Amino acid sequence: MKFPLTRLRRTRQTKTLRSMFQNVHLHPTDLILPLFVSESITTKEEIPSMPGVYQYPLKDVSQKTKEIYSAGIPSILLFGIPKEKKPIGSQAYDSSSIVQKAVREIKNSVPDVCVITDVCLCSYTSSGHCGIVNQQGIIQNDESCRLLAKVALSHAIAGADIVAPSDMMDGRVGYIRSLLDEEGFQMTPIMSYAVKYASNFYGPFRDAADCAPKFGDRKTYQMNFANSNEAYLEAMTDIEEGADMVIVKPALSYLDVIASLRPLIHHPIIAYSVSGEYSMMKAASMNGWIDYSQVMLETLLSMKRAGADNIITYSALDVLEHL
Ligand code: PBG
Repeated sequence: MKFPLTRLRRTRQTKTLRSMFQNVHLHPTDLILPLFVSESITTKEEIPSMPGVYQYPLKDVSQKTKEIYSAGIPSILLFGIPKEKKPIGSQAYDSSSIVQKAVREIKNSVPDVCVITDVCLCSYTSSGHCGIVNQQGIIQNDESCRLLAKVALSHAIAGADIVAPSDMMDGRVGYIRSLLDEEGFQMTPIMSYAVKYASNFYGPFRDAADCAPKFGDRKTYQMNFANSNEAYLEAMTDIEEGADMVIVKPALSYLDVIASLRPLIHHPIIAYSVSGEYSMMKAASMNGWIDYSQVMLETLLSMKRAGADNIITYSALDVLEHL
Protein backbone atom coordinates (compact mmCIF):
# COMPACT_ATOMS: atom_id res chain seq x y z
CA MET A 1 0.00 0.00 0.00
CA LYS A 2 1.31 3.43 -0.95
CA PHE A 3 0.77 6.25 1.59
CA PRO A 4 -0.94 8.64 1.98
CA LEU A 5 -4.28 7.18 0.82
CA THR A 6 -6.01 10.54 0.37
CA ARG A 7 -7.47 10.94 -3.11
CA LEU A 8 -11.17 11.65 -3.38
CA ARG A 9 -11.33 13.70 -0.19
CA ARG A 10 -9.14 16.47 -1.69
CA THR A 11 -12.08 18.16 -3.40
CA ARG A 12 -14.24 17.96 -0.26
CA GLN A 13 -11.97 19.89 2.10
CA THR A 14 -13.69 23.25 2.18
CA LYS A 15 -17.09 24.73 1.51
CA THR A 16 -15.66 26.56 -1.51
CA LEU A 17 -14.20 23.43 -3.06
CA ARG A 18 -17.36 21.50 -2.38
CA SER A 19 -19.47 24.14 -4.08
CA MET A 20 -17.08 24.36 -7.06
CA PHE A 21 -17.34 20.65 -7.74
CA GLN A 22 -21.02 20.21 -7.06
CA ASN A 23 -22.61 18.49 -10.09
CA VAL A 24 -26.25 19.26 -9.66
CA HIS A 25 -27.92 22.43 -8.45
CA LEU A 26 -31.40 23.33 -7.47
CA HIS A 27 -32.73 26.72 -8.59
CA PRO A 28 -35.93 28.43 -7.52
CA THR A 29 -36.92 28.45 -11.21
CA ASP A 30 -36.90 24.63 -11.19
CA LEU A 31 -39.74 24.57 -8.72
CA ILE A 32 -43.50 24.49 -9.23
CA LEU A 33 -45.79 24.95 -6.22
CA PRO A 34 -49.24 23.29 -6.11
CA LEU A 35 -52.05 25.56 -4.91
CA PHE A 36 -55.54 24.45 -3.82
CA VAL A 37 -58.47 26.78 -4.30
CA SER A 38 -61.79 25.76 -2.76
CA GLU A 39 -65.26 27.06 -3.49
CA SER A 40 -66.58 26.04 -0.06
CA ILE A 41 -64.44 28.14 2.28
CA THR A 42 -64.07 31.82 3.16
CA THR A 43 -60.78 31.68 5.06
CA LYS A 44 -57.75 29.53 4.36
CA GLU A 45 -57.85 26.03 5.88
CA GLU A 46 -54.88 23.84 6.69
CA ILE A 47 -54.98 20.30 5.26
CA PRO A 48 -54.77 18.08 8.36
CA SER A 49 -52.61 15.43 6.71
CA MET A 50 -50.31 18.07 5.17
CA PRO A 51 -49.27 20.50 7.92
CA GLY A 52 -48.23 23.82 6.38
CA VAL A 53 -50.30 23.30 3.20
CA TYR A 54 -53.63 25.10 2.83
CA GLN A 55 -56.77 25.28 0.76
CA TYR A 56 -57.45 28.92 -0.14
CA PRO A 57 -60.72 30.69 -0.86
CA LEU A 58 -60.94 32.46 -4.21
CA LYS A 59 -60.47 35.89 -2.63
CA ASP A 60 -57.01 34.93 -1.32
CA VAL A 61 -55.44 33.21 -4.33
CA SER A 62 -54.11 36.31 -6.07
CA GLN A 63 -52.41 37.57 -2.93
CA LYS A 64 -50.91 34.15 -2.23
CA THR A 65 -49.66 33.87 -5.82
CA LYS A 66 -48.11 37.34 -5.54
CA GLU A 67 -46.15 36.16 -2.47
CA ILE A 68 -45.03 32.99 -4.24
CA TYR A 69 -43.95 34.83 -7.38
CA SER A 70 -42.11 37.57 -5.51
CA ALA A 71 -40.30 34.94 -3.44
CA GLY A 72 -38.81 33.66 -6.73
CA ILE A 73 -41.03 30.68 -7.61
CA PRO A 74 -42.12 31.25 -11.21
CA SER A 75 -44.97 28.79 -11.43
CA ILE A 76 -48.00 27.37 -9.63
CA LEU A 77 -50.02 24.22 -10.31
CA LEU A 78 -53.64 25.03 -9.62
CA PHE A 79 -56.22 22.55 -8.28
CA GLY A 80 -59.87 23.54 -7.89
CA ILE A 81 -62.26 22.03 -5.37
CA PRO A 82 -65.88 22.72 -6.33
CA LYS A 83 -68.69 22.94 -3.78
CA GLU A 84 -70.77 20.34 -5.57
CA LYS A 85 -70.02 17.02 -7.26
CA LYS A 86 -71.93 16.04 -10.41
CA PRO A 87 -72.31 12.70 -12.25
CA ILE A 88 -69.97 13.58 -15.13
CA GLY A 89 -68.24 16.48 -13.41
CA SER A 90 -69.64 19.01 -15.88
CA GLN A 91 -68.68 21.98 -13.65
CA ALA A 92 -65.08 21.14 -14.55
CA TYR A 93 -65.49 22.88 -17.91
CA ASP A 94 -67.85 25.65 -16.80
CA SER A 95 -66.33 29.09 -17.37
CA SER A 96 -67.78 30.30 -14.06
CA SER A 97 -66.36 27.40 -12.05
CA ILE A 98 -63.70 27.75 -9.36
CA VAL A 99 -60.50 27.08 -11.34
CA GLN A 100 -61.53 29.26 -14.27
CA LYS A 101 -62.32 32.14 -11.88
CA ALA A 102 -59.06 31.66 -10.01
CA VAL A 103 -57.01 31.65 -13.23
CA ARG A 104 -58.62 34.90 -14.39
CA GLU A 105 -57.99 36.59 -11.04
CA ILE A 106 -54.40 35.40 -10.79
CA LYS A 107 -53.48 36.34 -14.36
CA ASN A 108 -55.02 39.78 -13.84
CA SER A 109 -53.01 40.54 -10.75
CA VAL A 110 -49.78 38.59 -11.36
CA PRO A 111 -49.55 38.42 -15.17
CA ASP A 112 -45.99 37.06 -15.27
CA VAL A 113 -46.55 34.00 -13.09
CA CYS A 114 -46.89 30.75 -15.03
CA VAL A 115 -50.26 29.22 -14.15
CA ILE A 116 -50.46 25.49 -14.81
CA THR A 117 -53.90 23.97 -14.31
CA ASP A 118 -54.50 20.36 -13.34
CA VAL A 119 -56.95 18.92 -15.86
CA CYS A 120 -58.95 16.10 -14.31
CA LEU A 121 -62.47 15.13 -13.32
CA CYS A 122 -61.92 13.42 -9.96
CA SER A 123 -62.64 16.47 -7.78
CA TYR A 124 -65.80 17.11 -9.82
CA THR A 125 -67.44 13.72 -10.42
CA SER A 126 -69.80 12.10 -7.91
CA SER A 127 -67.80 8.87 -8.32
CA GLY A 128 -64.48 10.52 -7.44
CA HIS A 129 -62.97 8.86 -10.53
CA CYS A 130 -60.82 10.67 -13.07
CA GLY A 131 -63.13 9.68 -15.93
CA ILE A 132 -66.79 8.95 -16.61
CA VAL A 133 -68.14 5.75 -15.13
CA ASN A 134 -70.84 3.62 -16.81
CA GLN A 135 -73.62 1.64 -15.10
CA GLN A 136 -71.27 -1.30 -14.59
CA GLY A 137 -68.75 0.90 -12.82
CA ILE A 138 -66.30 0.86 -15.75
CA ILE A 139 -64.37 4.02 -16.62
CA GLN A 140 -65.22 5.05 -20.20
CA ASN A 141 -62.02 5.99 -21.99
CA ASP A 142 -63.00 7.95 -25.10
CA GLU A 143 -66.01 9.73 -23.59
CA SER A 144 -63.74 10.84 -20.75
CA CYS A 145 -61.16 12.16 -23.23
CA ARG A 146 -63.80 14.29 -24.95
CA LEU A 147 -64.76 15.86 -21.63
CA LEU A 148 -61.16 16.33 -20.54
CA ALA A 149 -60.47 18.23 -23.76
CA LYS A 150 -63.35 20.56 -22.91
CA VAL A 151 -61.92 21.06 -19.43
CA ALA A 152 -58.48 21.91 -20.84
CA LEU A 153 -60.02 24.32 -23.35
CA SER A 154 -61.98 26.11 -20.61
CA HIS A 155 -58.75 26.55 -18.65
CA ALA A 156 -56.95 27.92 -21.70
CA ILE A 157 -59.79 30.37 -22.36
CA ALA A 158 -59.57 31.53 -18.73
CA GLY A 159 -55.87 32.27 -19.32
CA ALA A 160 -53.95 29.19 -18.14
CA ASP A 161 -50.35 29.24 -19.40
CA ILE A 162 -50.03 25.44 -19.43
CA VAL A 163 -52.63 22.67 -19.06
CA ALA A 164 -51.69 19.48 -17.21
CA PRO A 165 -53.93 16.43 -17.74
CA SER A 166 -53.61 14.07 -14.77
CA ASP A 167 -56.40 11.57 -15.51
CA MET A 168 -54.40 8.81 -17.30
CA MET A 169 -57.04 8.00 -19.94
CA ASP A 170 -55.45 6.72 -23.16
CA GLY A 171 -55.38 9.28 -25.93
CA ARG A 172 -56.40 12.32 -23.93
CA VAL A 173 -53.35 14.37 -24.92
CA GLY A 174 -54.31 13.99 -28.60
CA TYR A 175 -57.90 15.02 -27.89
CA ILE A 176 -56.75 18.04 -25.89
CA ARG A 177 -54.15 19.09 -28.49
CA SER A 178 -56.63 19.00 -31.37
CA LEU A 179 -59.37 20.88 -29.52
CA LEU A 180 -56.92 23.55 -28.33
CA ASP A 181 -55.59 23.93 -31.89
CA GLU A 182 -59.06 24.13 -33.43
CA GLU A 183 -60.07 26.82 -30.97
CA GLY A 184 -57.05 29.04 -31.49
CA PHE A 185 -54.87 27.91 -28.60
CA GLN A 186 -52.04 26.45 -30.68
CA MET A 187 -49.53 28.09 -28.36
CA THR A 188 -50.84 26.60 -25.10
CA PRO A 189 -48.41 23.86 -23.99
CA ILE A 190 -49.51 20.54 -22.52
CA MET A 191 -47.61 19.23 -19.50
CA SER A 192 -48.94 15.71 -19.35
CA TYR A 193 -48.91 13.47 -16.34
CA ALA A 194 -47.54 10.85 -18.70
CA VAL A 195 -45.98 8.44 -16.23
CA LYS A 196 -48.37 8.32 -13.31
CA TYR A 197 -48.42 5.29 -11.08
CA ALA A 198 -51.36 3.98 -9.02
CA SER A 199 -49.51 5.00 -5.90
CA ASN A 200 -50.31 4.82 -2.22
CA PHE A 201 -48.48 8.11 -1.77
CA TYR A 202 -51.48 10.18 -2.97
CA GLY A 203 -53.50 9.69 0.25
CA PRO A 204 -53.03 13.17 1.77
CA PHE A 205 -53.74 14.84 -1.59
CA ARG A 206 -57.12 13.14 -1.76
CA ASP A 207 -58.01 14.91 1.51
CA ALA A 208 -56.72 18.18 0.09
CA ALA A 209 -58.60 17.94 -3.22
CA ASP A 210 -61.56 15.91 -1.93
CA CYS A 211 -61.16 13.43 -4.77
CA ALA A 212 -60.94 9.93 -3.29
CA PRO A 213 -62.77 7.38 -5.49
CA LYS A 214 -66.14 6.43 -3.98
CA PHE A 215 -65.70 2.82 -5.10
CA GLY A 216 -62.79 0.73 -6.32
CA ASP A 217 -59.43 2.29 -7.03
CA ARG A 218 -57.53 3.92 -9.90
CA LYS A 219 -55.66 0.79 -10.99
CA THR A 220 -57.48 0.42 -14.33
CA TYR A 221 -56.04 3.74 -15.53
CA GLN A 222 -52.98 4.63 -13.43
CA MET A 223 -49.87 2.49 -13.92
CA ASN A 224 -48.85 -0.64 -12.04
CA PHE A 225 -45.97 0.49 -9.85
CA ALA A 226 -44.09 -2.74 -10.50
CA ASN A 227 -43.60 -1.74 -14.15
CA SER A 228 -40.78 0.31 -15.59
CA ASN A 229 -40.76 -0.46 -19.35
CA GLU A 230 -44.23 0.97 -19.66
CA ALA A 231 -42.91 4.36 -18.56
CA TYR A 232 -41.22 4.84 -21.93
CA LEU A 233 -44.37 3.79 -23.80
CA GLU A 234 -46.52 6.21 -21.78
CA ALA A 235 -44.10 9.10 -22.24
CA MET A 236 -43.63 8.49 -25.97
CA THR A 237 -47.35 8.08 -26.62
CA ASP A 238 -48.07 11.42 -24.96
CA ILE A 239 -45.21 13.13 -26.80
CA GLU A 240 -46.45 11.76 -30.14
CA GLU A 241 -49.92 13.07 -29.31
CA GLY A 242 -48.53 16.51 -28.59
CA ALA A 243 -47.29 16.72 -25.00
CA ASP A 244 -44.63 19.42 -24.55
CA MET A 245 -43.33 18.16 -21.20
CA VAL A 246 -43.87 14.92 -19.30
CA ILE A 247 -44.43 14.37 -15.59
CA VAL A 248 -43.19 11.35 -13.66
CA LYS A 249 -45.22 10.82 -10.51
CA PRO A 250 -44.56 10.08 -7.66
CA ALA A 251 -40.91 11.09 -7.63
CA LEU A 252 -39.01 9.74 -4.66
CA SER A 253 -39.67 6.03 -5.13
CA TYR A 254 -39.46 6.43 -8.91
CA LEU A 255 -36.01 7.94 -9.42
CA ASP A 256 -35.09 4.84 -11.43
CA VAL A 257 -37.90 5.67 -13.83
CA ILE A 258 -36.73 9.28 -14.23
CA ALA A 259 -33.14 8.13 -14.76
CA SER A 260 -34.13 5.54 -17.34
CA LEU A 261 -36.26 8.00 -19.31
CA ARG A 262 -33.63 10.74 -19.29
CA PRO A 263 -31.44 9.51 -22.17
CA LEU A 264 -34.50 8.53 -24.23
CA ILE A 265 -36.72 11.60 -23.90
CA HIS A 266 -35.55 15.02 -24.95
CA HIS A 267 -38.60 16.90 -23.78
CA PRO A 268 -38.51 18.38 -20.28
CA ILE A 269 -39.12 15.80 -17.56
CA ILE A 270 -40.95 17.04 -14.49
CA ALA A 271 -40.76 15.12 -11.21
CA TYR A 272 -43.86 15.39 -9.02
CA SER A 273 -42.90 15.03 -5.39
CA VAL A 274 -46.35 14.05 -4.16
CA SER A 275 -48.38 14.65 -1.04
CA GLY A 276 -47.34 11.44 0.73
CA GLU A 277 -43.67 12.31 0.30
CA TYR A 278 -44.30 15.72 1.86
CA SER A 279 -46.39 14.33 4.72
CA MET A 280 -43.84 11.64 5.62
CA MET A 281 -41.07 14.18 5.93
CA LYS A 282 -43.26 16.68 7.78
CA ALA A 283 -44.49 14.07 10.25
CA ALA A 284 -41.00 12.75 10.98
CA SER A 285 -39.67 16.26 11.50
CA MET A 286 -42.59 17.17 13.79
CA ASN A 287 -41.48 14.25 15.94
CA GLY A 288 -37.97 15.65 15.98
CA TRP A 289 -36.62 12.68 14.02
CA ILE A 290 -35.33 14.42 10.90
CA ASP A 291 -34.58 17.96 9.77
CA TYR A 292 -37.44 18.66 7.36
CA SER A 293 -35.81 21.33 5.16
CA GLN A 294 -32.51 19.51 4.83
CA VAL A 295 -34.07 16.14 4.08
CA MET A 296 -36.47 17.74 1.62
CA LEU A 297 -33.61 19.55 -0.08
CA GLU A 298 -31.69 16.29 -0.36
CA THR A 299 -34.65 14.49 -1.95
CA LEU A 300 -35.32 17.35 -4.38
CA LEU A 301 -31.67 17.30 -5.43
CA SER A 302 -31.90 13.54 -5.92
CA MET A 303 -34.72 14.15 -8.42
CA LYS A 304 -32.57 16.55 -10.39
CA ARG A 305 -29.63 14.18 -10.17
CA ALA A 306 -31.85 11.44 -11.62
CA GLY A 307 -32.50 13.74 -14.58
CA ALA A 308 -35.58 15.84 -13.84
CA ASP A 309 -35.63 19.38 -15.25
CA ASN A 310 -38.28 20.72 -12.90
CA ILE A 311 -39.98 19.58 -9.72
CA ILE A 312 -43.52 20.02 -8.51
CA THR A 313 -43.22 20.24 -4.73
CA TYR A 314 -45.33 21.40 -1.78
CA SER A 315 -42.06 22.53 -0.17
CA ALA A 316 -41.06 25.04 -2.85
CA LEU A 317 -41.35 28.03 -0.49
CA ASP A 318 -39.82 26.18 2.47
CA VAL A 319 -36.59 25.25 0.70
CA LEU A 320 -35.98 28.64 -0.93
CA GLU A 321 -33.94 30.06 1.92
CA HIS A 322 -31.58 27.08 1.73
CA LEU A 323 -30.79 27.34 -1.98
C1 PBG B 1 -55.85 14.01 -9.75
C2 PBG B 1 -54.52 14.12 -9.11
C3 PBG B 1 -54.01 13.39 -8.03
C4 PBG B 1 -52.77 13.95 -7.73
C5 PBG B 1 -52.55 14.99 -8.64
N1 PBG B 1 -53.65 15.06 -9.49
C6 PBG B 1 -54.61 12.31 -7.22
C7 PBG B 1 -54.86 11.00 -7.80
O1 PBG B 1 -54.51 10.69 -8.93
O2 PBG B 1 -55.48 10.20 -7.08
C8 PBG B 1 -51.86 13.52 -6.61
C9 PBG B 1 -50.93 14.57 -6.10
C10 PBG B 1 -50.32 14.31 -4.78
O3 PBG B 1 -50.49 13.26 -4.14
O4 PBG B 1 -49.61 15.21 -4.33
N2 PBG B 1 -56.02 12.99 -10.65
